[in-house]
Amino acid sequence: MADSMRHPNVARIYDYLLGGKDNFQVDREAAARLQEVLPDSVRAARENRRFLERVVRYLVWQAGIRQIIDIGTGLPTRGNVHEVAQRIAPETRVVYVDNDPVVVRHGMALLVTGEDTAMVEADLRAPRAIMTHPDTRRLIDFGAPVAVLMLASLHFVTDADDPRAIVRLWRETMAPGSYLAISHITADEVDPASAKAAQEVYADASAPAVPRTLAEVEAFFDGFDLVPPGVVNISSWPAPVPGRPRHRALLYGGVGRR
Ligand SMILES: C[S@@+](CC[C@H](N)C(=O)[O-])C[C@H]1O[C@@H](n2cnc3c(N)ncnc32)[C@H](O)[C@@H]1O
Repeated sequence: MADSMRHPNVARIYDYLLGGKDNFQVDREAAARLQEVLPDSVRAARENRRFLERVVRYLVWQAGIRQIIDIGTGLPTRGNVHEVAQRIAPETRVVYVDNDPVVVRHGMALLVTGEDTAMVEADLRAPRAIMTHPDTRRLIDFGAPVAVLMLASLHFVTDADDPRAIVRLWRETMAPGSYLAISHITADEVDPASAKAAQEVYADASAPAVPRTLAEVEAFFDGFDLVPPGVVNISSWPAPVPGRPRHRALLYGGVGRR
């Protein structure tokens, strides 16, 4: 059995939570364990995709962004970044980045639909390799505003890999008027035993999951002006939906302007 089928994979677990078909038994078992301890994890995964859509619409429609780097793309699903963006502004250029070869293969087939999108195999932890990749150079002009998305991906970077330094390097590389968007798992509203059990599901997976507090997620935006309402439960960005009950936060999200 291939090693990739023996261990759960973070992209495939997420695909399963979203109702996708690109996953194996080992991923479905991991997702089932996750749902046992966090029964609202399916809702959170779906909320995260809705957050992604709202953020991309905001960036393209309201902020006028026409170039996007999406780091930690995930397996293709409905409402992919370039689809949401190009529906509003067809000339928007999108560079997808993931370090999972299977995600990259699927992305090449399904996300690279024209000259304006690219799929780059690279690691979030090696930002310079992303910035200098030939496809990034071809599609992204760092002299103009750009949006960098780290949606449900930064929590796969442990403190040992200094995620704040990674984000700082992106900030220093971006032109004024650029944006950073993050969504990030948290255990702030989860009891400690469930949080520990959820983390254990990922201990054997392709990447460990690192929940962070509200203050830690906010700190990623140092040097950015947070777009209101700031870093909040993803389902409440940019505003709570009237009439919808307030669910506990499993992910925080926010958008900052350089
Ligand atoms: C949960 S999915 C999120 C997908 C999408 N961004 C979203 O929010 O719907 C996380 C993705 O991040 C990728 N990822 C995890 N660690 C990474 C790293 N160090 N470098 C690049 N991608 C990474 C995984 O392969 C996976 O495809």
